[in-house]
Amino acid sequence: MSVNQYIEHNRDRFLSELFDLLRIPSISADSTRAGDVRRCAEVLADYLRKAGADNVLLEETAGYPIIYGEKIIHPGLPTVLVYGHYDVQPSVPDELWVTPAFEPTIRDGKIYARGACDDKGQVFMHVKAFETMMQTNTLSCNIKFMIEGEEEVGSNNLGPYCKNNKDKLRADVILISDTGIVANDTPSIDVGLRGLSYVEVEITGPRIDLHSGVYGGAVANPINILCSMIAGMHDENRRITIPGFYDKVLDVSESDREAMGKIPFDLEDYKKHLDIENIMGEKGFTTIERTGIRPTLDVNGIWGGYIGEGAKTVLPSKAYAKISMRLVPNQISSEITEMFQHYFESIAPKGVKVKVTPHHGGEPVLTPTDSVPFRAAAMAMKETFGKEPIPTRGGGSIPIVALFEKELQTKTVLMGFGLDSDAIHSPNEHYGIFNYFKGIETIPQFFKHFAALKQ
Ligand code: BES
Ligand code: MN
Ligand code: MN
Repeated sequence: MSVNQYIEHNRDRFLSELFDLLRIPSISADSTRAGDVRRCAEVLADYLRKAGADNVLLEETAGYPIIYGEKIIHPGLPTVLVYGHYDVQPSVPDELWVTPAFEPTIRDGKIYARGACDDKGQVFMHVKAFETMMQTNTLSCNIKFMIEGEEEVGSNNLGPYCKNNKDKLRADVILISDTGIVANDTPSIDVGLRGLSYVEVEITGPRIDLHSGVYGGAVANPINILCSMIAGMHDENRRITIPGFYDKVLDVSESDREAMGKIPFDLEDYKKHLDIENIMGEKGFTTIERTGIRPTLDVNGIWGGYIGEGAKTVLPSKAYAKISMRLVPNQISSEITEMFQHYFESIAPKGVKVKVTPHHGGEPVLTPTDSVPFRAAAMAMKETFGKEPIPTRGGGSIPIVALFEKELQTKTVLMGFGLDSDAIHSPNEHYGIFNYFKGIETIPQFFKHFAALKQ
């Protein structure tokens, strides 16, 4: 049986098995789900075993286990290390889901569930592609799997694991499906990801909440202050005002920007999809550039004071915000965090206290387009989409990619199949059945071309 025949033949099962995985609420950020996260690892490890992987085990860490598995067919063949994550983002706000986040449902040819695209659906494509290659006797490279359960909370235990298991993880390439393509008729491969610096800030005014009439107008209100501090962090051109913030940003060549300009993008569709009247961003850059090659600063959450029912007249003691900065080559996460902290403290008026707490960060990455892995991925996609994929820059972050290069000296290829409109991290996350099976078809082609190019 050919690869495509095998996939066709097992279509329903490939979907129903993915659904088993999607039913498990493996939310790494929610400690009340710890049992579910672990159960998800066990279920996925079992699928890996059933698919034909050897030495499948849950590698214990200080946090959630890393699933390892391998099939070494010949020491002389090239080795592909597949990375992905089985943890997912929280499903809140649950009331906005048309069908519950952990009851996978098909509508309009799409699988709706938290993790359908990010990243269980994309990880499972690899498990099913591997099963397909095993069953059709077409596996042409050694394969290793490393699937973690803490990607959405910063991958804190993966770095040390890689460092301590360099030999075991030795590979010729790391293959990741945790990104997207431009459109189903426009295949693309991300050749860059943004880095991340994430901080939480706390502004303290008076020692206790006060009556907003008795004290209002006479005492610094920490929420008012926080809002004006945050508002001041962008100038009229929507550039970030932190001194030095752009100093290390690598210039992108005119020819690269020209190529980005050719990526299909429909502004009207974009606005319509988001239900916004206009877009907004840094002056002088297109939308694709703003999300691909430019750094950002965004408030992800802000709170304080009274947010219950009705009106309570209170001048709050404290105000908080969570702020993310997306970074581009060659910004360094720790330096940007430090710049932020310094600047934030310096712009705070007397009369409030400021506390900045750094959360996880990660470095931006650029992957080469003239490499064997990229060429193999491009050839594979050309074969299954019937079109040459275009190189693109992903706006999201997978901080561990930079670490793989550092700890394992191994390059990554980001062969993802999601769409920007898949609503990852949002209510009603979904993944196209088309995309799921396109991934399962394309992965074996990658192995074929990678082995051939490596000869
Ligand atoms: N898969 C995403 C990253 C992504 C999405 C890259 C789309 C490119 C295109 C990943 O799971 C993710 O969400 N990463 C986090 C960072 C992490 C440290 C929490 C992110 O980008 O916010
Ligand atoms: Mn992901
Ligand atoms: Mn994610």
